[in-house]
Amino acid sequence: MSSSVVTVVAPVNIAVIKYWGKRDEELILPLNDSVSATLDTSVMCAKTSVFASSNITCNEIWLNGKKESFSNKRLINCLDAIKSIAAKEKSVDDDFLSWNVRVCSVNNFPTAAGLASSAAGYACLVTALAKLYNLKSDVSCVARLGSGSACRSVYGGFVQWHAGTDPSGKDSVATQIAEASHWPEMRALILVVGDKAKKTSSTRGMNITAQTSELLKHRIQHCVPQRTTSIIQSIKERNFPKFAEITMKDSNQFHAVCMDSYPPFVYLTEVSHKIIEIIHKYNDLCGGIKVAYTFDAGPNACLYLLEEEVPKMISIIKHFFPSTTPDNLVTGLESTSELVSSDFLEKLAVTAETKKDLIKNVIYTKVGQGPTEVTDGSHLLDEHGLPL
Ligand code: DP6
Repeated sequence: MSSSVVTVVAPVNIAVIKYWGKRDEELILPLNDSVSATLDTSVMCAKTSVFASSNITCNEIWLNGKKESFSNKRLINCLDAIKSIAAKEKSVDDDFLSWNVRVCSVNNFPTAAGLASSAAGYACLVTALAKLYNLKSDVSCVARLGSGSACRSVYGGFVQWHAGTDPSGKDSVATQIAEASHWPEMRALILVVGDKAKKTSSTRGMNITAQTSELLKHRIQHCVPQRTTSIIQSIKERNFPKFAEITMKDSNQFHAVCMDSYPPFVYLTEVSHKIIEIIHKYNDLCGGIKVAYTFDAGPNACLYLLEEEVPKMISIIKHFFPSTTPDNLVTGLESTSELVSSDFLEKLAVTAETKKDLIKNVIYTKVGQGPTEVTDGSHLLDEHGLPL
């Protein structure tokens, strides 16, 4: 006996109020609320197929074409949590619950480079398993067991992860603030500075910060609560300058708490700092905030901006960070031709880099929907549950 293959595509999300620090490492309960935008799966996504059968002797997983061990605790916790909800909901029969599973997952962007690959991956896995086991309940708290930020990728648009207060984690869930269509002009440009794996993993980094940083305590008590309320309001009002200012300040404070950790660790590089300088000078010259930057646990920047600013921003990036293949630098959505006068570029008073390809790729995308089931039959596993 076997199930049919279920395949889901799930999005990446980039936080504007950062999650950094856990109060419970096992249940992945955060010290503070966080807020993010979910990005369009047509540009960046994880895709996962799942399959259950009485003929499978042990759980098996393939990640980006390579067979991996299923002994990862977070993976097991997610599968167990899904099965225990299925048992409570009686959504499948006991036989089905006892079968092992096969999982096959791929990302279409570099993993472990600070590009939120685990968020998309776990949101995808958990949503696919929830469909396989016919679950009705919200699965953001199961995705959270895989990777904290994954709980926000379970919804589209703008999303809040509520830290919650219950020790069981039952109120540490994500909810949607607004659909993607609420702010249709919102765009994101991801500047891929390096695609090498990061030095200090988020999990380890936030553990050091939670144990040693005084600044983190101040952040959690006096900054994040006010910022969360204000940024949610800015999203509801579609107030870009307010949204952008909070986003940049929160990114800067997150990197400041990394530096305040003992031993300290640094994710931003010289290129990241140059991007920060350019954005501030650009906003100053425009006489108002037009672009926001935010950086996760790596050197890549995510710029949030409205659609009308995109051509200008792309030409500025190309000017200051020359590429050996400028025509292939930008991937993702169609972008229009760019126009910024040389006069404007001069006024920015930033020296253009002479070294080429410091920015390897620019991914142009927008705010998008949550996970969706693939219905065109493009599964990653065949009818026996083996990788295609
Ligand atoms: C900087 O969700 O990757 O991207 O829960 O330990 O798996 P774990 O960490 P993870 O941390 C993400 C940190 C961040 C900020 C954010 O996405 O809010």
